[in-house]
Amino acid sequence: MAGSSTPAAGGGGRPPLFATEKPKRMVAYRLYACTIFAGILLIWVYRATHIPPREGNSLGWRASLGLLVADVLFGLYWVLTLSVRWNPIRRTTFKDRLAGSYGEDQLPGVDIFVCAADPALEPPMLVISTVLSVMAYDYPPEKLNVYLSDDAGSAVTFYALYEASEFAKHWIPFCKNYKVEPRSPAAYFAEAATPHDACSPQESLRMKELYKDLTDRVNSVVHAGKIPEVPESNRRGFSEWNETISSEDHPSIIQILIDRNERKTVDVDGNVLPTLVYMAREKRPQEKHNFKAGSLNALIRVSSVISNSPVIMNVDCDMYSNNSESIRDALCFFLDEEQGQDIGFVQYPQNFDNVVHNDIYGNPINVVNELDHPCLDGWGGMCYYGTGCFHRRETLCGQIYSKDYKEDWARGVGTAQSADELEEMSKSLVTCTYEHNTPWGIETGVRYGCPLEDVITGLQIQCRGWRSVYYNPVRKGFLGMAPTSLGQILIQHKRWSEGFLQISLSNYSPFLLGHGKIKLGLQMGYSVCGFWALNSLPTFYYAIIPSLCFLGGVSVFPEITSPWIIPFGYVAVAAYSCSLAESLQCGDTAVEWWNAQRMWFFRRTTSYLLAAIDTFGGMLGVSESGFDLTVKVNDSQALERYKKGKMEFGPISGMFVILSTIALFNLVCMVAGLGRVLWFEGAEGLGPLFLQAVLCVAIVAINAPVYEALFFRKDSGSLPSFVTLISLCFVSSLCLQAI
Ligand SMILES: *[C@@H]1O[C@H](CO)[C@@H](O)[C@H](O)[C@H]1NC(C)=O
Repeated sequence: MAGSSTPAAGGGGRPPLFATEKPKRMVAYRLYACTIFAGILLIWVYRATHIPPREGNSLGWRASLGLLVADVLFGLYWVLTLSVRWNPIRRTTFKDRLAGSYGEDQLPGVDIFVCAADPALEPPMLVISTVLSVMAYDYPPEKLNVYLSDDAGSAVTFYALYEASEFAKHWIPFCKNYKVEPRSPAAYFAEAATPHDACSPQESLRMKELYKDLTDRVNSVVHAGKIPEVPESNRRGFSEWNETISSEDHPSIIQILIDRNERKTVDVDGNVLPTLVYMAREKRPQEKHNFKAGSLNALIRVSSVISNSPVIMNVDCDMYSNNSESIRDALCFFLDEEQGQDIGFVQYPQNFDNVVHNDIYGNPINVVNELDHPCLDGWGGMCYYGTGCFHRRETLCGQIYSKDYKEDWARGVGTAQSADELEEMSKSLVTCTYEHNTPWGIETGVRYGCPLEDVITGLQIQCRGWRSVYYNPVRKGFLGMAPTSLGQILIQHKRWSEGFLQISLSNYSPFLLGHGKIKLGLQMGYSVCGFWALNSLPTFYYAIIPSLCFLGGVSVFPEITSPWIIPFGYVAVAAYSCSLAESLQCGDTAVEWWNAQRMWFFRRTTSYLLAAIDTFGGMLGVSESGFDLTVKVNDSQALERYKKGKMEFGPISGMFVILSTIALFNLVCMVAGLGRVLWFEGAEGLGPLFLQAVLCVAIVAINAPVYEALFFRKDSGSLPSFVTLISLCFVSSLCLQAI
């Protein structure tokens, strides 16, 4: 499609603002996929035709039936994953044309929503660094409006934002004059100060000192938990807080900290600053608040009276902008005359700035960002994942796409009202009762009452006829924090996979909701995550049963001399080589790939398995598994261990019992199984058990960090001996099965 529009066709045609390309290697990939599929079919045939008779060897019969089911499930899941490899596309934007076609003064207004929920988990300095990074976007400040939603209604966060609004008067001109990147002061000053070319060392030093003062002031208030006296003339906002206010029980508070209509709020160079608004919606213990979805909907309403910009961007408070041009990039999609009218939202990838080289958790998710998401985009519908996303305001408000729909890019609020009037008016929009008996949370705004409301909201927008776009620039748009403890990751994935499974089994399933509205490939693409949890069942089976049979000398795979071994060998070798090649091509190292495989295995045998159990248990009315562990905050020792590549286990948890049981059991099977075969039968005896031996060794190899934590490590991040003890009980009872 690139460059296909002919200028001046049908009057004032403007040149395209973005281009879409397809990589060439897709034919080769599709051929490869066909051979894998043939291999899978042969495996199914083998499984169906090689079930041993029931009498005599009962273990072999049961195991073979189970493996038939497991292989069928794996194969079907593999077919789903084809959708996220089939049709990747790559987008490029032409920002310079944007400025050429639309004068700066014709660019649309943009409202930016930053969501914060808990000042203990999200320290105020982190929040205001994010706020400052988005206030400093390379965009006309009179068109930029930044809203912070503080769901805890914390006076300390408000104080930090007030300090940030003062600091912005120095920071924003500094960024713009010297073209500083990144524009989060925390990230900029953390980057071992390579002073900017254009910027004199004195200037840089002065800025650094101002930032240090800000940090000291804010942190001392955080430690004291109390606001210092602020001169009355300076800010009236602080009077909103009193002793009766708590994070779960407070009235609505709206404060316009920087009002662009007020002439006196300019930066040190005399330029206007972006509007800055603090919002804490009303919260009462007896009223549902719907978490982040609730605060996004409150922000949509508040911003509609204060700025009402046609474009809305939202970002989590721990994810700063690393690219000051992201707004212009996103607008290239919306404003393109030929291909832009039906684009509802533009999603940026999630990237991390705290991961170390060869991260033990395989956190660099390059394959997801460089392959999976471009494929969803290829089907016309990147999903919305709740942060780093630009929306048209109207799509969030339930607008259905039609050819006649014309966006009003010039919209905004007309007559200038005073900040006091606007604050009073907006307060009434964010009370607990405002949404009662309204379509908010159902047809309007972000969806309520379902897990993963972001994803459902995005899917609903696509079902209303809008397309979405994925944009992944070389310099990443947003950087956040990756979790750096195994417990955190497993818990996070349990929540996600449980949410996805519940969606897939409900009326919101992409196959039902999207039927006839979005492409089949996209429905399948959504279902790749949708069935994460189900895919755990065959994985768990494969981690236990073939090894158990190996220990008992029961063969459940073709013999090494049989031609049937070819499809098994081919599928395994080809699939893993392809996966490794993809990772390397997307910029991961081989070690990161290996670590990611380990996490893949860990998540499927714990998070996803428990998610499946809890979901089905919930449907049958059985209570939760209670296997969850409490997430603990990173301490400095844990951070050191992370940097050294040591896996962080920590407190006792059911998930770790599963992990260490699988690891120990396979170790026993490998040692005892190999010993038994070689002792009694010699190398000949290995023939019928060859693939099982390979599988068992592979599981042992991938579990290396578990053995380290069980046997060698003494630090607080290793596995508690109680876990070892319980696992040993499980392992012994499993081994008895084999005998
Ligand atoms: C973030 O921005 C900095 C400064 O421009 C750049 O050097 C870095 O590569 C960016 N990070 C990512 C992950 O793109």
